[in-house]
Amino acid sequence: MKNIFFNIPQAINNETNKIKKLYYFKHFSSNGHFTKMCRGWLTKNIGCREALLVHSCTAALEMCAILINIQPKDEIIMPSYTFVSTANAFVLRGGVPVFVDIDPTTLNIDPNKIEKAITKKTRAIVAVHYAGVSCDMDPITEIAKKYKLTIIEDAAQAILSSYKGRPLGSIGDLATISFHETKNIHCGEGGALIINNPKFIKRAKIIRDKGTNRDLFNQNMVKKYTWVDYGSSYGLSEINAAFLYEQLKQAKKITRKRLAIFKLYHKLLENLEIKKLIKRPTIPTYAGGNGHMYYILVKNNKRDKLIKYLKQKKINTVFHYVPLHSSHFGKLKAIIKTIMKNTNYASNNLLRLPLHTKLINKDVSICCKNIYSFFKNKK
Ligand SMILES: Cc1ncc(COP(=O)(O)O)c(C=O)c1O
Repeated sequence: MKNIFFNIPQAINNETNKIKKLYYFKHFSSNGHFTKMCRGWLTKNIGCREALLVHSCTAALEMCAILINIQPKDEIIMPSYTFVSTANAFVLRGGVPVFVDIDPTTLNIDPNKIEKAITKKTRAIVAVHYAGVSCDMDPITEIAKKYKLTIIEDAAQAILSSYKGRPLGSIGDLATISFHETKNIHCGEGGALIINNPKFIKRAKIIRDKGTNRDLFNQNMVKKYTWVDYGSSYGLSEINAAFLYEQLKQAKKITRKRLAIFKLYHKLLENLEIKKLIKRPTIPTYAGGNGHMYYILVKNNKRDKLIKYLKQKKINTVFHYVPLHSSHFGKLKAIIKTIMKNTNYASNNLLRLPLHTKLINKDVSICCKNIYSFFKNKK
């Protein structure tokens, strides 16, 4: 029986040739040739004003918190069904995550629940595009305008996805992307801070460069660089940037392949949804996906049994987020503004199926056949 892995990190197998070029450039730290190339790719394909390479999406989120001057007790509205960094980046500065429930169809923040969660202390809304499927951005943008809030898109999983034809990452004031090895495009660990609101550009470079005006010094605009603001060492090394550039060049091809696997799962699992044994992902008409994830919601509390059953068949599947509102630290640091029915349901019943570009159609059929046989045997 063949082992079907949940994820095999993307490899073009030419990344090391790009890294070897660094011996010629003799620049291995951040902000060199390959950083510029990646920046060019990101600004062109996202259509943003600026794209800064950083060492993780977590780093980009922390930079957002500094950029919008989060002060102790400031509130930031976000889903609880997300990765810890979405919240922790703000908690590090004394901010308070305010959790609202998700929409049961997309598992993204429910725009209808945001307005009631706004108080005088609210500063921003974080729109997490779960599974690379867009949040409904128009109502979120309207609310943000009405209450003068910053929109941050957590597009960790959403490279090359879109909302009404607009690339994700291009809609909020700020957006963050992950290039962790679990993502469609990666460099081991990496990320990007995407800037659409030009008022943030100058300061973002200072924050990235340890709180110094080194960027101006590099452009011969100041004689010496010095400490001017908050900051940290957020840049991405050229070694990672070289690796990343090779992957970005292939990003559209990789996305097409992943979308084809997504579509095959969707087709093969249709009958189980008709029989009301599972629910497949819903992609709203406004959303252009990137095939980041294929998940099913397993009905009647059978998710964990299905994971075990598939493991015996050497098929590796995983659950996803433990909601932040139910975590030990979340309970200490955050506010819960709505009932979390949909969040809890997703956490208890969602199952992620293998999806990577080494997966062949036969593997997908084997996965689906085994899911069918699980339900047939009425485990
Ligand atoms: C929604 C979301 N935000 C942020 C992150 C953090 O990304 P990174 O590992 O690049 O810091 C992740 C990681 O999976 C994520 O899923």
